[in-house]
Amino acid sequence: KLVNTYEMFQKAQAGKYAIPAFNIHNLETLQVVVETAAELKSPVILAGTPSTISYCGPEFFVAMAETAASLYNIPIAIHLDHFENLKDIQRCVEAGFTSCMIDASHDPFEENVRIVKEVVAYAHSKGVTVEAELGRLGGQEDDLIVDEKDAKFTNPAQAREFVERTGINSLAVAIGTAHGLYKGEPKLDFERLAEIQNQVDAPLVLHGASDVPVEAVQKAIDLGVCKVNVATDLKIPFANAVKSYFNENPEANDPRKYLAPAKEAMAKVVAEKIRMCRSEGKA
Ligand code: 13P
Ligand code: ZN
Ligand code: NA
Repeated sequence: KLVNTYEMFQKAQAGKYAIPAFNIHNLETLQVVVETAAELKSPVILAGTPSTISYCGPEFFVAMAETAASLYNIPIAIHLDHFENLKDIQRCVEAGFTSCMIDASHDPFEENVRIVKEVVAYAHSKGVTVEAELGRLGGQEDDLIVDEKDAKFTNPAQAREFVERTGINSLAVAIGTAHGLYKGEPKLDFERLAEIQNQVDAPLVLHGASDVPVEAVQKAIDLGVCKVNVATDLKIPFANAVKSYFNENPEANDPRKYLAPAKEAMAKVVAEKIRMCRSEGKA
Protein backbone atom coordinates (compact mmCIF):
# COMPACT_ATOMS: atom_id res chain seq x y z
CA LYS A 1 0.00 0.00 0.00
CA LEU A 2 1.19 3.49 -0.83
CA VAL A 3 2.01 5.69 2.16
CA ASN A 4 2.23 9.41 2.83
CA THR A 5 5.57 10.91 3.86
CA TYR A 6 4.83 11.40 7.57
CA GLU A 7 6.48 8.31 9.01
CA MET A 8 9.26 8.30 6.41
CA PHE A 9 10.29 11.78 7.48
CA GLN A 10 10.04 11.00 11.22
CA LYS A 11 12.46 8.12 10.76
CA ALA A 12 14.73 10.07 8.42
CA GLN A 13 14.91 12.98 10.83
CA ALA A 14 15.75 10.70 13.75
CA GLY A 15 18.28 8.71 11.70
CA LYS A 16 19.95 11.68 9.97
CA TYR A 17 19.34 10.48 6.44
CA ALA A 18 17.08 11.68 3.65
CA ILE A 19 14.36 10.13 1.53
CA PRO A 20 15.21 10.41 -2.16
CA ALA A 21 12.39 11.85 -4.30
CA PHE A 22 12.72 10.98 -7.97
CA ASN A 23 10.70 12.61 -10.73
CA ILE A 24 9.33 9.89 -12.99
CA HIS A 25 7.58 10.20 -16.34
CA ASN A 26 6.37 6.83 -17.53
CA LEU A 27 6.30 3.10 -16.79
CA GLU A 28 10.00 2.59 -17.49
CA THR A 29 11.27 5.36 -15.24
CA LEU A 30 8.90 4.30 -12.45
CA GLN A 31 10.08 0.69 -12.75
CA VAL A 32 13.73 1.67 -12.57
CA VAL A 33 13.20 3.77 -9.45
CA VAL A 34 11.17 1.22 -7.49
CA GLU A 35 13.24 -1.79 -8.56
CA THR A 36 16.46 -0.07 -7.54
CA ALA A 37 14.97 1.22 -4.28
CA ALA A 38 13.72 -2.30 -3.47
CA GLU A 39 17.14 -3.81 -4.21
CA LEU A 40 18.77 -1.33 -1.85
CA LYS A 41 15.90 -1.55 0.66
CA SER A 42 15.32 2.19 0.59
CA PRO A 43 12.08 4.08 1.18
CA VAL A 44 11.32 6.20 -1.87
CA ILE A 45 9.15 9.05 -3.13
CA LEU A 46 7.88 9.05 -6.71
CA ALA A 47 7.26 12.62 -7.82
CA GLY A 48 5.25 14.05 -10.69
CA THR A 49 5.15 17.69 -11.79
CA PRO A 50 1.97 19.23 -13.25
CA SER A 51 3.29 18.65 -16.77
CA THR A 52 4.04 14.99 -15.98
CA ILE A 53 0.52 14.55 -14.65
CA SER A 54 -0.98 16.11 -17.75
CA TYR A 55 1.29 13.89 -19.86
CA CYS A 56 0.35 10.54 -18.29
CA GLY A 57 -2.83 11.30 -16.33
CA PRO A 58 -3.06 10.96 -12.53
CA GLU A 59 -4.89 7.62 -12.77
CA PHE A 60 -2.11 5.93 -14.75
CA PHE A 61 0.51 7.32 -12.37
CA VAL A 62 -1.39 6.04 -9.33
CA ALA A 63 -2.14 2.64 -10.88
CA MET A 64 1.51 2.03 -11.75
CA ALA A 65 2.64 3.11 -8.28
CA GLU A 66 0.02 0.94 -6.56
CA THR A 67 1.22 -2.03 -8.55
CA ALA A 68 4.80 -1.24 -7.50
CA ALA A 69 3.73 -0.99 -3.86
CA SER A 70 2.08 -4.40 -4.06
CA LEU A 71 5.19 -5.98 -5.62
CA TYR A 72 7.91 -4.48 -3.42
CA ASN A 73 8.07 -4.43 0.33
CA ILE A 74 9.38 -0.87 0.80
CA PRO A 75 7.60 2.35 1.76
CA ILE A 76 6.56 4.18 -1.43
CA ALA A 77 4.90 7.62 -1.43
CA ILE A 78 3.55 9.39 -4.53
CA HIS A 79 4.03 13.09 -4.47
CA LEU A 80 2.76 16.05 -6.49
CA ASP A 81 5.79 18.25 -7.20
CA HIS A 82 5.48 22.04 -7.67
CA PHE A 83 1.70 22.12 -7.91
CA GLU A 84 0.37 25.64 -7.87
CA ASN A 85 -3.31 25.40 -6.98
CA LEU A 86 -5.74 23.51 -4.80
CA LYS A 87 -7.99 22.41 -7.65
CA ASP A 88 -5.26 20.41 -9.43
CA ILE A 89 -4.13 18.92 -6.12
CA GLN A 90 -7.69 17.82 -5.28
CA ARG A 91 -8.07 16.05 -8.60
CA CYS A 92 -4.85 14.10 -8.05
CA VAL A 93 -5.53 13.31 -4.40
CA GLU A 94 -8.89 11.91 -5.45
CA ALA A 95 -6.98 9.70 -7.88
CA GLY A 96 -4.79 8.44 -5.01
CA PHE A 97 -1.75 10.68 -4.51
CA THR A 98 -0.49 10.50 -0.93
CA SER A 99 1.64 13.63 -0.70
CA CYS A 100 1.79 17.04 -2.34
CA MET A 101 3.80 20.19 -2.71
CA ILE A 102 1.92 23.45 -2.99
CA ASP A 103 4.36 25.91 -4.53
CA ALA A 104 3.18 29.45 -3.95
CA SER A 105 6.75 30.63 -3.41
CA HIS A 106 6.34 33.23 -6.18
CA ASP A 107 3.57 34.95 -4.20
CA PRO A 108 4.14 37.50 -1.41
CA PHE A 109 4.50 35.96 2.08
CA GLU A 110 0.92 36.50 3.29
CA GLU A 111 -0.53 35.16 0.05
CA ASN A 112 1.80 32.14 0.22
CA VAL A 113 0.58 31.46 3.79
CA ARG A 114 -3.07 31.79 2.76
CA ILE A 115 -2.81 29.40 -0.21
CA VAL A 116 -0.76 26.84 1.71
CA LYS A 117 -3.18 26.84 4.68
CA GLU A 118 -6.04 26.09 2.32
CA VAL A 119 -4.17 23.13 0.84
CA VAL A 120 -3.13 21.84 4.29
CA ALA A 121 -6.76 21.90 5.52
CA TYR A 122 -7.88 19.87 2.51
CA ALA A 123 -4.90 17.51 2.29
CA HIS A 124 -4.78 16.67 6.00
CA SER A 125 -8.48 15.78 5.93
CA LYS A 126 -7.49 13.15 3.33
CA GLY A 127 -4.39 11.89 5.15
CA VAL A 128 -2.14 13.53 2.57
CA THR A 129 1.10 15.24 3.65
CA VAL A 130 2.00 18.73 2.46
CA GLU A 131 5.27 20.40 1.47
CA ALA A 132 5.55 24.11 0.72
CA GLU A 133 8.38 26.42 -0.30
CA LEU A 134 9.61 29.66 1.16
CA GLY A 135 12.18 31.58 -0.82
CA ARG A 136 12.54 30.75 -4.49
CA LEU A 137 14.83 28.42 -6.47
CA GLY A 138 16.29 29.56 -9.76
CA GLY A 139 16.55 27.40 -12.87
CA GLN A 140 14.03 25.36 -14.84
CA GLU A 141 11.77 22.52 -13.70
CA ASP A 142 9.56 21.49 -16.63
CA ASP A 143 7.37 24.52 -17.44
CA LEU A 144 8.45 26.37 -14.31
CA ILE A 145 11.26 28.75 -15.22
CA VAL A 146 12.77 31.15 -12.69
CA ASP A 147 15.39 33.63 -13.76
CA GLU A 148 18.45 33.71 -11.44
CA LYS A 149 17.73 37.35 -10.61
CA ASP A 150 14.30 36.34 -9.27
CA ALA A 151 15.69 33.55 -7.09
CA LYS A 152 15.41 34.31 -3.35
CA PHE A 153 17.01 32.59 -0.36
CA THR A 154 14.83 31.41 2.53
CA ASN A 155 14.71 33.73 5.52
CA PRO A 156 15.12 31.58 8.69
CA ALA A 157 12.88 33.63 11.02
CA GLN A 158 10.20 33.86 8.37
CA ALA A 159 10.52 30.10 7.82
CA ARG A 160 9.57 29.48 11.43
CA GLU A 161 6.51 31.70 11.16
CA PHE A 162 5.60 30.06 7.84
CA VAL A 163 5.71 26.52 9.24
CA GLU A 164 3.85 27.47 12.43
CA ARG A 165 1.07 29.32 10.64
CA THR A 166 0.53 26.83 7.80
CA GLY A 167 0.94 23.48 9.59
CA ILE A 168 2.91 21.99 6.69
CA ASN A 169 4.69 18.65 7.09
CA SER A 170 7.91 19.68 5.37
CA LEU A 171 9.55 22.87 4.16
CA ALA A 172 11.36 23.33 0.86
CA VAL A 173 14.25 25.72 1.35
CA ALA A 174 16.16 27.90 -1.08
CA ILE A 175 19.82 27.91 -0.01
CA GLY A 176 21.61 28.17 -3.34
CA THR A 177 20.51 25.11 -5.30
CA ALA A 178 18.72 25.53 -8.64
CA HIS A 179 16.64 23.30 -10.86
CA GLY A 180 18.58 21.79 -13.76
CA LEU A 181 22.36 21.99 -14.21
CA TYR A 182 24.68 24.66 -12.84
CA LYS A 183 26.98 26.96 -14.76
CA GLY A 184 29.76 26.58 -12.19
CA GLU A 185 29.83 24.77 -8.85
CA PRO A 186 26.68 25.48 -6.86
CA LYS A 187 27.44 27.39 -3.65
CA LEU A 188 25.16 26.32 -0.85
CA ASP A 189 24.56 28.62 2.10
CA PHE A 190 25.06 26.13 4.94
CA GLU A 191 25.01 28.82 7.61
CA ARG A 192 21.56 29.78 6.48
CA LEU A 193 20.50 26.14 6.44
CA ALA A 194 21.78 25.65 10.00
CA GLU A 195 19.85 28.71 11.11
CA ILE A 196 16.68 27.45 9.40
CA GLN A 197 17.09 24.12 11.17
CA ASN A 198 17.47 26.00 14.46
CA GLN A 199 14.22 27.83 13.88
CA VAL A 200 12.14 25.06 12.31
CA ASP A 201 11.26 21.59 13.62
CA ALA A 202 9.73 20.39 10.35
CA PRO A 203 11.79 18.21 8.00
CA LEU A 204 13.54 20.28 5.33
CA VAL A 205 13.49 19.55 1.59
CA LEU A 206 16.33 20.17 -0.85
CA HIS A 207 15.12 20.91 -4.36
CA GLY A 208 17.49 21.15 -7.31
CA ALA A 209 19.80 18.42 -5.99
CA SER A 210 20.94 17.26 -9.44
CA ASP A 211 24.47 18.32 -10.32
CA VAL A 212 25.28 19.12 -6.68
CA PRO A 213 28.40 17.36 -5.31
CA VAL A 214 27.64 14.41 -3.03
CA GLU A 215 29.52 15.98 -0.09
CA ALA A 216 27.41 19.14 -0.30
CA VAL A 217 24.14 17.19 -0.35
CA GLN A 218 25.30 15.08 2.59
CA LYS A 219 26.27 18.17 4.54
CA ALA A 220 22.76 19.48 3.91
CA ILE A 221 21.36 16.18 5.18
CA ASP A 222 23.47 16.54 8.33
CA LEU A 223 21.85 19.96 8.75
CA GLY A 224 18.27 18.70 8.66
CA VAL A 225 17.38 17.94 5.04
CA CYS A 226 15.09 14.88 5.01
CA LYS A 227 14.04 14.84 1.34
CA VAL A 228 16.30 15.27 -1.67
CA ASN A 229 14.72 15.98 -5.06
CA VAL A 230 16.34 14.59 -8.19
CA ALA A 231 15.00 14.99 -11.72
CA THR A 232 17.64 16.22 -14.18
CA ASP A 233 20.38 13.73 -13.22
CA LEU A 234 18.03 10.88 -14.20
CA LYS A 235 16.74 12.40 -17.43
CA ILE A 236 20.19 12.95 -18.91
CA PRO A 237 21.60 9.38 -18.76
CA PHE A 238 18.24 8.00 -19.91
CA ALA A 239 18.16 10.29 -22.95
CA ASN A 240 21.85 9.80 -23.73
CA ALA A 241 21.46 6.02 -23.75
CA VAL A 242 18.51 6.26 -26.16
CA LYS A 243 20.51 8.58 -28.42
CA SER A 244 23.54 6.33 -28.56
CA TYR A 245 21.35 3.26 -29.11
CA PHE A 246 19.84 4.88 -32.19
CA ASN A 247 23.23 6.12 -33.34
CA GLU A 248 24.47 2.55 -33.32
CA ASN A 249 21.18 1.01 -34.48
CA PRO A 250 19.55 3.54 -36.81
CA GLU A 251 16.99 0.97 -37.99
CA ALA A 252 15.85 0.03 -34.47
CA ASN A 253 12.16 0.26 -33.66
CA ASP A 254 11.55 -2.02 -30.70
CA PRO A 255 10.97 0.00 -27.50
CA ARG A 256 11.91 -3.01 -25.38
CA LYS A 257 15.34 -2.91 -27.05
CA TYR A 258 16.04 0.82 -27.30
CA LEU A 259 14.75 1.53 -23.79
CA ALA A 260 16.70 -1.28 -22.10
CA PRO A 261 20.08 0.54 -22.02
CA ALA A 262 18.28 3.72 -20.94
CA LYS A 263 16.79 1.92 -17.95
CA GLU A 264 20.15 0.45 -17.08
CA ALA A 265 21.91 3.82 -17.24
CA MET A 266 19.22 5.41 -15.09
CA ALA A 267 19.29 2.59 -12.52
CA LYS A 268 22.98 3.28 -11.83
CA VAL A 269 22.25 6.91 -11.02
CA VAL A 270 19.23 6.01 -8.87
CA ALA A 271 21.47 3.71 -6.81
CA GLU A 272 24.10 6.45 -6.43
CA LYS A 273 21.48 8.93 -5.26
CA ILE A 274 20.03 6.46 -2.73
CA ARG A 275 23.51 5.92 -1.30
CA MET A 276 24.07 9.68 -1.27
CA CYS A 277 20.88 10.05 0.82
CA ARG A 278 22.08 7.25 3.17
CA SER A 279 18.61 5.71 2.90
CA GLU A 280 19.95 2.30 1.84
CA GLY A 281 18.70 -0.38 4.23
CA LYS A 282 16.18 1.96 5.89
CA ALA A 283 13.05 0.41 4.36
P1 13P B 1 16.93 19.01 -10.43
O1 13P B 1 16.52 19.66 -11.73
O2 13P B 1 18.19 19.59 -9.89
O3 13P B 1 16.98 17.53 -10.57
O4 13P B 1 15.80 19.36 -9.34
C1 13P B 1 14.70 18.51 -9.17
C2 13P B 1 13.63 19.11 -8.30
O5 13P B 1 13.84 19.95 -7.47
C3 13P B 1 12.26 18.57 -8.46
O6 13P B 1 11.33 19.26 -7.71
ZN1 ZN C 1 11.87 21.32 -7.34
NA1 NA D 1 20.03 21.08 -9.89
